[in-house]
Amino acid sequence: MKGIVLAGGSGTRLYPITRTVSKQLLPVGDKPMIYYPLSVLMLADITEILIISTPTDLPQFRRLLGDGSSLGLTITYAEQSEPRGIAEALVIGADHIGDDSVALVLGDNIFHGHGFSEILTENSRDLVGCVVFGYPVQDPERYGVGEVDAAGRLVAIEEKPMRPRSNRAITGLYFYDNSVVDIAAGLRPSARGELEITDVNRAYVRLGQARLIELGRGYAWLDTGTPESLLQAGQYVRTMEERQGVRIACVEEIALRKGFIDAEACYRLGISMSSSAYGRYVMEIAEELGALPA
Ligand code: DAU
Repeated sequence: MKGIVLAGGSGTRLYPITRTVSKQLLPVGDKPMIYYPLSVLMLADITEILIISTPTDLPQFRRLLGDGSSLGLTITYAEQSEPRGIAEALVIGADHIGDDSVALVLGDNIFHGHGFSEILTENSRDLVGCVVFGYPVQDPERYGVGEVDAAGRLVAIEEKPMRPRSNRAITGLYFYDNSVVDIAAGLRPSARGELEITDVNRAYVRLGQARLIELGRGYAWLDTGTPESLLQAGQYVRTMEERQGVRIACVEEIALRKGFIDAEACYRLGISMSSSAYGRYVMEIAEELGALPA
């Protein structure tokens, strides 16, 4: 399975912060926001990842993550010149997807919870159709909203409905089989002028091939859309990290635990950031898992 992180858009709800910095590079806790969705793909065992952003912001992502090889990944980059819709990521990413399946994750979505890696790997294996992830929220009218039948099949999905038929928001993580390339190529812009991800999901609903996985109470799915929610997300991450002594979305640790890199390589990544607590944590983890200190 290939991975795509969509990290474009103009972030106007965070102005003036995002006038000069991409939203998805803003700090959440002690790391850039994109580490969280990148971690999700890595936890799904995905190593070939395309990052899509604006022509202005793309160089910054490249500076941060390079070609991904230090994390045992292959990271490539593509521009979205205007925010023409989330589903455009699947058009821009068609060559990257090739004849494989794909996981698309929005660069501003933060997930956290026990057993997430297992959920991701189980549901991406031998994928037929699409898998979306539902999360109960108090304000479903702000999101894509899904309705499921008794077998967990998604039977209807609406984008930001005025009268939501459930409180189940569809999160910004989507697994698709290869037919998504044709589905995305056939999309027309909606009334608001965007290629809608909800239209892609609806195409699978019509085929009876859309599955919804519930991320229940044991999970956190956090918003970063406004200054308040961004701050809350950072506080959540710091609270959990300080209490448990482990870090959320530490990409170096995930790369090591997944076997994408070895302990020595991880240790070296830590040393390069040893002035920060984050870097020292990476070194500690590497030592715990077998690296010999320099
Ligand atoms: O976060 C989950 C929600 O994401 C889903 O429940 C909705 O169904 C889905 O439409 C989307 O809703 P949003 O209102 O959050 O979409 P927004 O336009 O804010 O875009 C989400 C992120 O994707 C944002 O960080 C910017 C980025 N983006 C968006 C568009 C439209 C791009 O990079 N390019 C784009 O063209």
